Amino acid sequence: MEMDRTKPLFAEKCLAGRVAFVTGGGSGIGLGISHAIAAAGAKVVVASRKKEKIEAARDEIRATSGEAIAIQLDVRDYESVSQAVAQTVAEFGGLDVMIANAAGNFVAPSAEMSANAWRTVIDIDLNGTFHCCRAAYSALKASEHGGRIIAISTMRALEGWPGCAHAGAAKAGIMSLMRSLATEWGPDGIRCNTVAPGPIDGTEGVRRIYEEKGRLATEIASVPLGRLGQVSDIANAILYLAGPGGDYITGTDLVVDGGRDRKRVIVAQNAPTVA
Ligand code: NAP
Ligand code: COA
Repeated sequence: MEMDRTKPLFAEKCLAGRVAFVTGGGSGIGLGISHAIAAAGAKVVVASRKKEKIEAARDEIRATSGEAIAIQLDVRDYESVSQAVAQTVAEFGGLDVMIANAAGNFVAPSAEMSANAWRTVIDIDLNGTFHCCRAAYSALKASEHGGRIIAISTMRALEGWPGCAHAGAAKAGIMSLMRSLATEWGPDGIRCNTVAPGPIDGTEGVRRIYEEKGRLATEIASVPLGRLGQVSDIANAILYLAGPGGDYITGTDLVVDGGRDRKRVIVAQNAPTVA
């Protein structure tokens, strides 16, 4: 059989002709993803709650990377997500890649966490991701490139996440959801995966979970590669899955954490009492 040599992975405009929707695309990891996929030729929708933030991101992307629009939404509200997808299809002619990156998290011991605090994080992370997938389904099915859903997860979800039980449960739910949809929607050509970052430099997540709690040095020490990840490390993983690299990948987690999760498993096996 002839090898298919016609699909270069990271050609300069490897996402040309595709439309991508990034929830939480106005800050942190989502902003880095938005820039990277716009620079790779995709038309990008930057979506979140704060209008000034997404409009600033849109203007920055237009000035430096490529084509973008901003759409205000709250992922907890299915109607607002559904309308945003309809607007995307109306303005850009379709939707090929849904990146469910929006999330909320804060450190809160479970014994002190209010029911509303729990519900809020589950609602943004897990319900919000389902809303994005469900609202995008028809458009993704119609994608001539084969639709993509990429949700941002974390390996913390699988090991339990003391101090962030709400986010751990929500992300574990997201990982399960992607596996379910990979099977249900594979026949429609829609690939469903997660990218699981380790701690990423300069982000709100690292600020809240590690810096504010005085745990940054311990966290860096737990990474075999010896550094925090960069936003570009995550953006590159997204480029891979969103473009030709992801053609035959579905129902899996791409772990981009400098080896943190492997090291935790090994440490746990050798010393079961390590927290
Ligand atoms: P971030 O900048 O705070 O990103 C979260 C984004 O979600 C914000 O842009 C926020 O924008 C948006 N958002 C929050 N609630 C929303 C809602 N209800 N509706 C729509 N948008 C909403 O933090 P980040 O650290 O870059 O995190 C990005 C993703 O990476 C998250 O999924 C996080 O769990 C994951 N992650 C991060 C790390 C890390 O080291 N930072 C590690 C593993 C996984 P608005 O406020 O404008 O709504
Ligand atoms: N510790 C304990 N409880 C907290 C908390 C904290 N640090 N922050 C919020 N809560 C509780 C609130 O007290 C409230 O519960 P209550 O009604 O019982 O008092 C509940 O969570 C909802 O808070 P609220 O501020 O009304 O939610 P919101 O919808 O305005 O904002 C958050 C959502 C709380 C997740 C907010 O932090 C946010 O917008 N985060 C997005 C950015 C982010 O988290 N980035 C990191 C991604 S890894």
